Amino acid sequence: MLKRSVRAAAGIAALAVSFLSFVPSLLFTVVAPSSFKAAQSMRSSPSSNQQTKSKANQIPITPPPMGWSSWNSFSNTVDSNVIMQQTKALVSSGMKNAGYQYINIDEGWWLGERDQSGNILVDAEQWPALQPGEQPGDMSNIVRFIHSLGLKAGIYTDAGEAGCSFYGPDLGPPILHTGSEGHYDQDFLKFAQWGFDYVKVDWCGGNKENLDPAAQYAEIAHAVHRAEKVTGHRLYFSICDWGNNSPWTWAPGVGGVAADIWRTSGDIVAPIVANTPNNSRSASFVGVLSNFDQGIHPAAQHTGFYNDPDMMVVGMQGLSDAQNRVHMSLWAISGAPLIVGADLSKLSKATIEILTNPDVIAVDQDHLGVQAIKVDEHLPGFQVWSKPLATSGGHAVLLLNRTSAPAKIEVGWNEIGLDSSASATVWDLWAGKELGSYSSTYTATISASDAALLVIHGTDAKATRYEAASSANELSGGATPEPCETCPSGRSITIGGERSLTFKIAPLKRSTFVQIHYINRSTSPLTTQLSVDGQMPTNILFPPTEGGNEVGSITIEVESKQPGSESTLAFSSPGVTGPVFESISLLAGAH
Ligand code: GLA
Repeated sequence: MLKRSVRAAAGIAALAVSFLSFVPSLLFTVVAPSSFKAAQSMRSSPSSNQQTKSKANQIPITPPPMGWSSWNSFSNTVDSNVIMQQTKALVSSGMKNAGYQYINIDEGWWLGERDQSGNILVDAEQWPALQPGEQPGDMSNIVRFIHSLGLKAGIYTDAGEAGCSFYGPDLGPPILHTGSEGHYDQDFLKFAQWGFDYVKVDWCGGNKENLDPAAQYAEIAHAVHRAEKVTGHRLYFSICDWGNNSPWTWAPGVGGVAADIWRTSGDIVAPIVANTPNNSRSASFVGVLSNFDQGIHPAAQHTGFYNDPDMMVVGMQGLSDAQNRVHMSLWAISGAPLIVGADLSKLSKATIEILTNPDVIAVDQDHLGVQAIKVDEHLPGFQVWSKPLATSGGHAVLLLNRTSAPAKIEVGWNEIGLDSSASATVWDLWAGKELGSYSSTYTATISASDAALLVIHGTDAKATRYEAASSANELSGGATPEPCETCPSGRSITIGGERSLTFKIAPLKRSTFVQIHYINRSTSPLTTQLSVDGQMPTNILFPPTEGGNEVGSITIEVESKQPGSESTLAFSSPGVTGPVFESISLLAGAH
């Protein structure tokens, strides 16, 4: 049997390298039932009937993950008892019912031992049998427990030879060899066989060894695929290079994954573990704001791929209830993963209410899957953030006062893409009430370092539509206009293999949300590359469209670095099947 403390102590090597040096920090609107919780609660309002309309055939996008991670409150003191206690607390607190589903075991679960064939060996005391018939030292025991409560299980490794607790240990000595380098296929297959549903892959080893993150994470994604194929078990992919290597430029859909997240910054706070020396630490609101800012890369966040500003510190020492509310608002308007880092067995009633507010969660999980954009900051620190929602005419808005005095902050309908000539209803999500109907603007006084999270529902300003089969566009590789019975324009362009399509549109002078109207007749998502004005391409995922031939829509955000006399949106699916394009619609707004 492996003895945890003995093994950990054996890992004390001369390599006292500081971890900190590596980690510094539309057009055709259809009536469709909506799953948007905020909208549902609004339906009671007679003035908001339009909430039942969904934006132009929007295909629901895989939402960002919600759950809990062991790192922030347990560091490497994690074991079976901790995980069982936290799993039960996630259920009894009401968080499971609110949508939190992952229990993620972070670093410290494994002490770096392998058998002669390279199979991971885990400490039998740390991970004992939990019921008759189970073997001690088998991670599938704890996975079975997590699954038995209707939840999903996550695990951690590093892309390099060792995880972060070797290079910069927190509690206890450095632990050698807790990375998967040289064992990708073997380890990811093992994780899937144990039954894990989620894997976080850290970069401390990769960083130390100067590996190329884009290449390395693609290789890991392929290993994840192979493990999924062998076991039939899905592993959600979480990348953790802290934004050091601009993951937003290469991580969306890396290695062909259908959903993933990537960290955009360092940790908000180092772990705070009760009854240990590090219990004197506290989370800071400044750190929360800094991670929020570093997490904003809206052009990369779409179709199931998400920027990850880190586990939330809501409910940890250092933040007031008001700051916790702002923190949750920032993650929700970002559409960020909602992974809680606090000790779930100690949450206050106020914290639970913040974490489980259904309308706020609905903004985060909205099935357009896009990130908010800062639409206004007319004076430094008076910020208006906004993102369109899947419900027609619905927009989430955050009025954020980053100054040290109360401030009046105004949002104009034209800034967020609403028709200024029509009135709109304003909902305060934390107050849980409608504030009334307003014409063209809404102004609120926001306390110092505070924010209001709103859903404003009005009439979307007219979008600008460009048909795929327009002669203004550039077709290559044999792409050609074809008849399309279900297309409003009657024509479409299919890409894939050699065939590509470049939309030529009016210059993109600001960040713009774009709906893409397409058909995917297959039963699986199709991946396409999009390059805007010749910039580095990003992978866009096109889920199957309903009924085979019906036109569906996805929404993305596009930006140009150097708008010229026109802008280009070039779509290609080199060597593989691509979607059928009907048109694109540029949504209005001062984004
Ligand atoms: C890094 C990550 C953290 C956590 C630790 C584990 O710091 O950013 O989220 O996984 O490693 O050592």
